Amino acid sequence: MVFGIGLLVNAVLVAIPVGGSVGALLGIDAHRAATGQKPLFTGGNNDDGIGTGTGGDSTGGGGGHDTITNNGVQHTQYCELSYGITPPSKTEQYTLNPNQWGVKEDTTGNGLCMNITTLVNQTYAPQTAPEFSITWQFDPGPQTAPVHGYPNIRVDDVLPKEMNKISQVDLDLHWTYGLGDTPAESTDVQTLKNENLATNVAIDMFLDADADKSKSASEAKFEVMVWFWMSNEEAQPLGWGKPGITRTLDGTTFTLYTGKNEQGQYVLSWVPETITERFTGDIYPLITDLYNFGGSDYPAKEDYLGSLSFGTEVYSVDKNVTFWAEQYKIDIKS
Ligand SMILES: *[C@@H]1O[C@H](CO)[C@@H](O)[C@H](O)[C@H]1NC(C)=O
Ligand SMILES: *[C@@H]1O[C@H](CO)[C@@H](O)[C@H](O)[C@H]1NC(C)=O
Ligand SMILES: *[C@@H]1O[C@H](CO)[C@@H](O)[C@H](O)[C@H]1NC(C)=O
Repeated sequence: MVFGIGLLVNAVLVAIPVGGSVGALLGIDAHRAATGQKPLFTGGNNDDGIGTGTGGDSTGGGGGHDTITNNGVQHTQYCELSYGITPPSKTEQYTLNPNQWGVKEDTTGNGLCMNITTLVNQTYAPQTAPEFSITWQFDPGPQTAPVHGYPNIRVDDVLPKEMNKISQVDLDLHWTYGLGDTPAESTDVQTLKNENLATNVAIDMFLDADADKSKSASEAKFEVMVWFWMSNEEAQPLGWGKPGITRTLDGTTFTLYTGKNEQGQYVLSWVPETITERFTGDIYPLITDLYNFGGSDYPAKEDYLGSLSFGTEVYSVDKNVTFWAEQYKIDIKS
């Protein structure tokens, strides 16, 4: 049996820029502030007639959105760079945003669109978010600015809250990443590696001693992330290579990595050893562990948790990929 002489593919170790915007899930507020626009997430969000809680066109409103309604279920697509979408809900209120803050004039690729599934009756399961997916493809950006955005869903109304007044943050999560334009049943890590997918899937939180600052992605002193996947080392957290403490929750072991971003914010990232497509349990110990450290490099229990969002930080990939948040339920208990 003779094997044909194939291509010998060497594993090339890509030089990873340290610092820059690697690992920082910059929020849209920072981007809007930088470009002189008013923040999307403060005050009303009804500029486009969305989020008013009445009427049948629950998520449309803005021009050009492709909405399909079927048996009380609506599918709407948003391809804007930045757009706050607050689907009316009689249960928990969430705001979604394609948040393509790193897309510039010279960015190349197929772009990014967010699809949101909403219910016309506005009645979701308790604390459960509308299902959503993100289809995207970007070519690699400059090494100093490799991130194209952080499309995400944010929990409204319950925050900011003092951390010692929170008892549990219960998470019920199921997501997948797949090649192509439709949601995958499960994530085929090797196939995505072959297409050079650089991304992460993470919850992003902002914390500060000041309640107002804790709401701001740019002003908060601390950014705390809980990752569920790092596709490759291009999408590594700050402090990668210098693992800190570990904590096992729901069978998943998270390792803490810490660093300071270019804005001087302390970025504390909990990263699992393997891909975690499903998680059910309380993630609050990942925060109490931090304030048990003490000192000014870590948040204190009197600090406020000001914002909590979940999404995927999009760097680059060769072909279209689809991130699917099939189940996302977050219950911040006092
Ligand atoms: C709301 O609509 C969805 C989709 O049609 C349906 O499955 C669900 O049972 C409805 N809930 C209520 C309380 O009417
Ligand atoms: C790839 O994704 C973009 C953004 O969602 C979409 O506009 C485009 O149609 C997709 N490409 C193909 C070949 O389907
Ligand atoms: C997103 O919505 C567009 C327009 O309705 C549709 O063509 C596409 O298949 C949807 N993508 C996913 C992943 O559901």
